[in-house]
This record gives sequence, structure tokens and C-alpha cells, in this order.
Amino acid sequence: MDRLAGKIALVTGAARGLGAQIARRFAEEGATVIVNDLNLAAAEATAKTLGGHALACDVSDAASVTRMFAELREITGGRLDVLVNNAGISGMEGDNAARARIARLAEQALAGEQPEESLSGGITDVSDAQWHRMIGVHLDGTFFCSREAARIMIPQKSGNIVNMGSIMGTFGRPGGTAYCSAKAGILGFTRALAHELAAHTIRVNAIAPGWILTDMTDPLKPMHPMLAAQTPLGRLGEPDDIAWAAVYLASDEAKFVTGQVLSPNGGWYMSQ
Ligand SMILES: NC(=O)c1ccc[n+]([C@@H]2O[C@H](COP(=O)([O-])OP(=O)(O)OC[C@H]3O[C@@H](n4cnc5c(N)ncnc54)[C@H](O)[C@@H]3O)[C@@H](O)[C@H]2O)c1
Repeated sequence: MDRLAGKIALVTGAARGLGAQIARRFAEEGATVIVNDLNLAAAEATAKTLGGHALACDVSDAASVTRMFAELREITGGRLDVLVNNAGISGMEGDNAARARIARLAEQALAGEQPEESLSGGITDVSDAQWHRMIGVHLDGTFFCSREAARIMIPQKSGNIVNMGSIMGTFGRPGGTAYCSAKAGILGFTRALAHELAAHTIRVNAIAPGWILTDMTDPLKPMHPMLAAQTPLGRLGEPDDIAWAAVYLASDEAKFVTGQVLSPNGGWYMSQ
């Protein structure tokens, strides 16, 4: 119950999904949690359920991140023990054509036919804006927030950063060039920063979730039975499967763990 007692934690993209569950478990383990998301009302609604604070900002925007950290310093008296860089997008948000394509793909797969198209369109369909948004939210966002956190944690001589990667950071999914690139970048960033900040007793690790049931994977619903069948543990993951990994990495139980990638994925993808 007290694995994070007295810690102050910021979780980005935490209004819902994996971020919200991480924030919830952190609070139960004794942390003071700051819930970030794009929309203040949504962040506040989640923060209220766990007795935390809410701060809105688009993590892909450096100036907004700087402003958010100025607000955070006021709330916490200039302290930050844990940063979870969780905010992310799939690129399929609000894309009805993608839902229809997924339904067709699932039908083909269930009929044992070779799929004629990829999950989210091929490289020739990716616009500059889509590419930059994907890299911006995941990789720029992780960089901007980590840089601000390091400005607090280095003088503190302590801290903990957990970055949200994905099995797609090492597994190449057709139609996923932007997402896979962003997540692979996060894994490289994690290792470099872990080495750099170790001298200040700041640990940096990544989580690489498999297929987890959240709003992000909801458009893939027609494929869920197939994904579960492909997973040795026989199911998709739940947000708690990731939240407990984050609690572990953020806690002193992992005090000798840095520069690592922990991948709760039910065995769908076995790496390292
Ligand atoms: N669900 C999965 O199967 C899965 C698997 C691997 C990795 N991930 C990663 O886990 C993280 C969380 O995913 P999820 O499934 O909870 O997704 P989700 O869509 O349910 O939640 C993501 C949250 O991030 C917020 N967000 C998006 N862009 C933002 C921005 N620029 N600034 C601040 N907040 C922003 C959204 O508003 C939302 O509340 C993402 O980084 C995702 O890539 C998810």
C-alpha cells in the first residue's frame, strides 16, 4: 500500500486509459499525483477520483510544457519524484475509414484469407502532418517533459522517469511506420537518458505494453478474438497489467533497475 509513500508524481495523458490507471495505483500506493491531459476538464475529472491535481497541456508543444512545469512547481514546492511519459495517440482517433478497414481485415483473417491491406494504411497514405503529429506527441512530448523534469530532479539528486513505449517499438507492424518509429525512438531515448542521469541517482526505464483494452484499442474490437488467440496467455491485457509495472519501476523495489524495457504483453511478443 505504501510503495510510493511521500512521492510526487506527474503522469501525462492520464485522463483515461493506461495513464488514469497508473495515476490511480500511484495514489493508492501513497503518491501525490498530478494528472495531465490535453483537456483540463477531463484531467480534473480523473484527478478528483484519486484526490490528485490536474494540469492541462499538449505535451508536443514545448512552450506549453514549460508553462505546465511552472504550475507544477507552484503546486509541489518545486519537487518532482516521478514522471510517467504516457500521453500518446494511435493516429486512428475519429477515423471511421480505419474502423471499416479493420472490420474487413478481421473478416478476412477469420476466413483464413491473406489480408489485402494493412491495419492503418500504407506509407504512401501517410501525410506530413500525420507523421509529425505522431512523432510530436510521443517523442517530442517525452523529450520536452523529461527535460523539464530533469531540471528539477538533477538538483534534487533523485528521481524516476518511466516512458511509455510499445511492443511496436521493436516489432514492425505494416501500416505503422510513424507509430513504430515514435516508439522505437522512445526506447533509444530511454537508454541514453538512463546512462546520462544515473550519476544523479535518477532512474529512467520504459514499459512496452502489448495489446491492452483501452479506448485506443477499441477500434480494433473486431480483431480482439484473433489477438487473444495469438497471445500465449490467451487474452488482451487490462490497464492494471501496465499500472503495476509502472508502480514497480517507480518504487524502490526497482532501485537497481535503469535503462530497461519491461514488456507486459501476455507473451504475444517475446523480446530480449
Ligand atoms: N492500449 C494499448 O494497447 C497500448 C499498447 C502499447 C502502448 N500504448 C501506449 O500507452 C499510452 C496510453 O495509451 P492508452 O491506450 O491509454 O490510450 P488512450 O487513447 O486511451 O489515452 C491516451 C490519453 O493521452 C491523451 N493525450 C493524447 N495526446 C496528448 C497530448 N499531446 N498531450 C497530452 N495528453 C495527450 C489523450 O487525451 C488520452 O487521455 C500511449 O502512449 C500508447 O501509445 C498503448
